[in-house]
Amino acid sequence: MGNSKPERLIDENGRRIDGRRPDELRPIKIEVGVLDKSDGSAYVEFGGTKVFAAVFGPREAHPKHLALPDRAILNCRYHMTSFSVEERKPLGMTRREVELSKVIREALETVTFLEEFPRASIDVYIEVIQADGGTRTTGLTAASLALADAGIPMADLIAAVAVGKVDGQLVLDLCDVEDKYGEADMPVAMAPRFNSIVLLQLNGRLTPSEFKKGLALAQKGISEIYKLQQEALKKRFSTSKPLEV
Ligand code: CDP
Repeated sequence: MGNSKPERLIDENGRRIDGRRPDELRPIKIEVGVLDKSDGSAYVEFGGTKVFAAVFGPREAHPKHLALPDRAILNCRYHMTSFSVEERKPLGMTRREVELSKVIREALETVTFLEEFPRASIDVYIEVIQADGGTRTTGLTAASLALADAGIPMADLIAAVAVGKVDGQLVLDLCDVEDKYGEADMPVAMAPRFNSIVLLQLNGRLTPSEFKKGLALAQKGISEIYKLQQEALKKRFSTSKPLEV
């Protein structure tokens, strides 16, 4: 696979390693309601990054002593399959996966009306099928759709993307090589209806002005992603069958 360090990440025409312009997203595929056994599900693809999310609930919290009297608990597991990365990945949950499960859960909690389901649990499972950069943002984007598909009341969806700096230039939606060999990587997740940021992390360094420009670039990507999410939800809930009378 072409994951060794390339000589340069942006060519003389301003094109990136995969031919994109700096402000361009990868090809995105979104489908809602893709699994039968869970209450809600979604599949989201950003270029080579492929993620499933599935939701169970609201259902009785288990074990019962974990139940809260005034709201549902939201459990979240972000996991990378063993075949999602090139290296030999440990079978259990790595520290990175535990941390990502936590930050993803905290982001989802900001938009979910948990107080409507006391003593219940809502369980979110994110499985990364193939990783090529931006798995946490793709996972969050998919998880919010799976929650909506499960009929969980929410204030908004969450749309997310990473921005970063490669060869000194700000770019949208980093792929793995850009993430690995670039100077900075900043995943951003938002509840776009409220223009509020629900996750923001930064790996590497940005100047204050780069940070501002990067955030604006992320917002531009997020509004494109949000539209695609809404279209996918509409497709899921519109029926082509004529109504039976
Ligand atoms: O995936 P995301 O950008 O949210 O998180 P990261 O920790 O910044 O990882 C960036 C990328 O590194 C992933 O998307 C994978 O492509 C790759 N990676 C990997 O190859 N093996 C791992 N154990 C973790 C990440």
